[in-house]
Amino acid sequence: MSEAAVITRNKLNDSDSPTMTGSILIIDDEAEIRESLETLLELEGYSVETAGTGQQGLYRIGQRTFDLILLDLALPDRNGMDILAELRSQDPNLSVMMITAYGTVENAVKAIQSGAVNFVQKPWDNEKLLADVRAAIARHRAEEENVQLKRALKQRYNFEHIVGKSEPMLKIFDLVAQVAPSRSTVLLQGESGTGKELIAKAIHLNSPRRDRPFVPVNTGSMPPDLLESTLFGHVKGAFTSAIASKKGLFEVADKGTLFLDEIGSMTMDTQSKILRVLQDRKFMHLGGIHELQVDVRIIAATNVDLRQLVREGKFREDLFYRLNVISIDLPQLRQRKEDIPLLVEHFLRKYSLENEREIRRVTPEGLRPLVAYSWPGNVRELENVIERAVVLSSGPEIGSDLLPDHMVGRGTTMPVMEHRPDASLFDILEDCERRIITDMLEKCNWNQTEAAERFRVPLSTLNQKIKRLSIEIKKKGREEGRL
Ligand SMILES: Nc1ncnc2c1ncn2[C@@H]1O[C@H](COP(=O)(O)OP(=O)(O)OP(=O)(O)O)[C@@H](O)[C@H]1O
Ligand SMILES: [Mg+2]
Repeated sequence: MSEAAVITRNKLNDSDSPTMTGSILIIDDEAEIRESLETLLELEGYSVETAGTGQQGLYRIGQRTFDLILLDLALPDRNGMDILAELRSQDPNLSVMMITAYGTVENAVKAIQSGAVNFVQKPWDNEKLLADVRAAIARHRAEEENVQLKRALKQRYNFEHIVGKSEPMLKIFDLVAQVAPSRSTVLLQGESGTGKELIAKAIHLNSPRRDRPFVPVNTGSMPPDLLESTLFGHVKGAFTSAIASKKGLFEVADKGTLFLDEIGSMTMDTQSKILRVLQDRKFMHLGGIHELQVDVRIIAATNVDLRQLVREGKFREDLFYRLNVISIDLPQLRQRKEDIPLLVEHFLRKYSLENEREIRRVTPEGLRPLVAYSWPGNVRELENVIERAVVLSSGPEIGSDLLPDHMVGRGTTMPVMEHRPDASLFDILEDCERRIITDMLEKCNWNQTEAAERFRVPLSTLNQKIKRLSIEIKKKGREEGRL
């Protein structure tokens, strides 16, 4: 098992335990406050240390690490704000919650702007305080985990911008590292937005070809003639508009990697030409007479099932086997929900930097719908949602109010359909019904009995609909719920 996987598991076990444990340092000059906070937190299972002055607190922080610091704003020896600044400059990931007396909330707000995660106002409400402490520690752990995971992955491979700690993603990282050094053709399969192009780039960047070009070409978006002249180049006069000769992308990518995206939409004719280059690495310019030899590594990607296209006679079987030397299946985001908090954190950083915003976190209320949602557009959709929230936000946090209506059940509950232009009202209604039933089944982890109960219809009715609408059951539910 990879080093990253081990780190992840240990961390997960910690935070999955029913009472969230963690280490907390309380810095407050009032003994009474220290003691009552200490008792409250120890009863919850936290390990707690205390300090009566700023100096003592800094000393303890220098001795060991804490998951959370509770810091009084008004200390006798040093101003809490100064201590906060010093702590943050030493360790920007340190989680600090300010303790403030009634009437000094304004200062607490300033402290939050300077990097504190929250504040506790005296006299506090025990339940709220414990909830805030739990949230602060959970967030701190997620950040630490992200940093450690990135460090571990970076040491092993150059995967700087790829985030993931789920078992399938860790397997993919291992596979990428194994296949990168060779020249073998790789086929990446996965739904739209799952990260196929990102993985293709990672393979290239971890290969001996990294200093040569990585050339992506979207084979699905071009008419066949244009695609062929783009890939193979042409000589002057090869066709009416060929007023000068032009290199093809196979030559541009020589000694590098050619990324053939959306490979499933190529015509049979183009497929035969590609097959020829794959077989002997030779090709001719359109209209040309000389054979050219290239050294290109091919990575292909598809979001449709190529085997199915082969069965339907729409994709050449021999080309499929040529491409499918090593295949990597990118899992849907809804199948690896444990990656969602890490991805949220990653995109939050990315778009805060890009938009010059100081947004520190997504609140637990904001994170819940993000984890629960089914993400039909996978990581790309999640990235867009976070970018939008960052741009719309005006404070240091992102809550559920900044998420799209359909994710948090605001506004219409009807899904927005992309209509086919020739669809009748009945087709559209059927599409809606299919989407609603699929969404509910996903929410119920594909347990039909539970879904039927939540829809308040008999199981037999739901099963008839599933059959009629050809809904594919991803994972079987309980025995009695099977079709
Ligand atoms: N594991 C990940 N970590 C970080 N960012 C990711 C990850 N997976 C995908 N992304 C980001 O999500 C977006 C979509 O990824 P990408 O373009 O690689 O998907 P794709 O599978 O090629 O999608 P499509 O089939 O629609 O072309 C990109 O901005 C990419 O950087
Ligand atoms: Mg892509």
